[in-house]
Amino acid sequence: MSAPRGQFSSNIGFLMAAAGSAVGLGNIWGFPTKAASNGGAAFVVVYLVLAFLLAYPALMAELTIGRHARSNMVQALRGISTGPISRLFGSLAGFGGILVASLILSFYAIVAGWMVAYLADPFASLLGADGAAAWLTGNSVGRNLTFTAIFSGMTMLIIAAGVEKGIERWSTLLMPSLIILLLLLIVYVLTQPGATTGLEVYLMPDFSQFSPKLLISAMGQAFFSLSLGVGTMLIYGSYLSQQESLPRLGALVTLIDVGIAFTAGLLILPAMYVAQEAGTQIFSAGGELIAGPDLILQVLPALFDTMGTAGLFVAIAFFALMVIASLTSSISMLEVPVAFSIENLGVQRRLATPLVGLVIFAISSVIIINFDTLFGLVVSISTEYGQPLLGVALCIFAGWIWRRDQLLAELQKGHPGIEKSLFWKIWPWYVRIVCPLLILAAFAQSVL
Ligand code: PHE
Repeated sequence: MSAPRGQFSSNIGFLMAAAGSAVGLGNIWGFPTKAASNGGAAFVVVYLVLAFLLAYPALMAELTIGRHARSNMVQALRGISTGPISRLFGSLAGFGGILVASLILSFYAIVAGWMVAYLADPFASLLGADGAAAWLTGNSVGRNLTFTAIFSGMTMLIIAAGVEKGIERWSTLLMPSLIILLLLLIVYVLTQPGATTGLEVYLMPDFSQFSPKLLISAMGQAFFSLSLGVGTMLIYGSYLSQQESLPRLGALVTLIDVGIAFTAGLLILPAMYVAQEAGTQIFSAGGELIAGPDLILQVLPALFDTMGTAGLFVAIAFFALMVIASLTSSISMLEVPVAFSIENLGVQRRLATPLVGLVIFAISSVIIINFDTLFGLVVSISTEYGQPLLGVALCIFAGWIWRRDQLLAELQKGHPGIEKSLFWKIWPWYVRIVCPLLILAAFAQSVL
């Protein structure tokens, strides 16, 4: 058919790409605010436990299936099927993954577009272009379409360049920049008045808030944050060399994801209380800490405004951080449908990327134009229903459908002797029984 499949040139390249996919708006924006409104460190502890006990095993299922099949989710699930029914189930789950990955990208690109607009805003202010600055931060349909288009274009450019020259190169460049920016911002914010109150709210556990709701919220967060269920990690696994140990790389990806989410809390919560000290309202009328778009697009910019010229640079650093985090995630989403188009439809990458990218941009545009009715709906369909249900399907494939000897043989590549390890004693049962049951229980709780 088409050109030979791409492959990551090194395990560091894979690690940066997979961690880049995992680390996104979910870590820097979602995690800290969920922690703050769900008992601070109590949420952090529950999240840590769930990330390693639930999300890591599911991540391993995706990586192992992907590396074995060396293809996209549809092909991969069909390939490890053992009969016509499981093949059909595999096609359904595979197409479901492609659809949900595209839907997630369609709303993610809108939010990331806001980040690009807010990154441009301080430059407009520095140039004295006040009209432009007001447009950049005003929530108009025109502004949203423009910046979603810009962000989608950036995502397409990287994906069109391929696995090694696009995904790997950019992730390896952007991930270290992200960590440096995050640390610089933390150091700056922690020196401002009010910061320690934020640290206390974040780090003092309030276990009285422990509830099923907290568990579900932490589970959803872990699934979204590790990019699970939609074939992103599967396709990245399919570009990984067979010389690497999957359990080890998977654990590192989980560790980096959790580590950056935790570290982002050290920035966001203190920044909120510094904003309060500077006179900005940080609680909603109902007494809850402001979260979501209002936090990122109002509370924090209000804080940066009180910092004078330094604030312009802090704003640039902060929104650059957000754009970088979004971009290394959005490319992993776009790769899912693009890889399918290349492998199953025989379209060349350079053509498949703009075609698929434009279809997804069209969906984003429809959402932008009908924002109030569609945005929340698409977020909920894709992340509350799609991701957990597809996650269960992937666990069922790894745990029940795929032949156990093939599964073991795949894991032994790059990790000889794994059959005697603790991992092999626990994990197969885990993906078989514990993961699907836990995910389904939480899913039932949250939607019924
Ligand atoms: N993990 C990304 C984040 O935390 C989101 C994502 C979801 C990426 C699904 C890819 C697939 O922002």
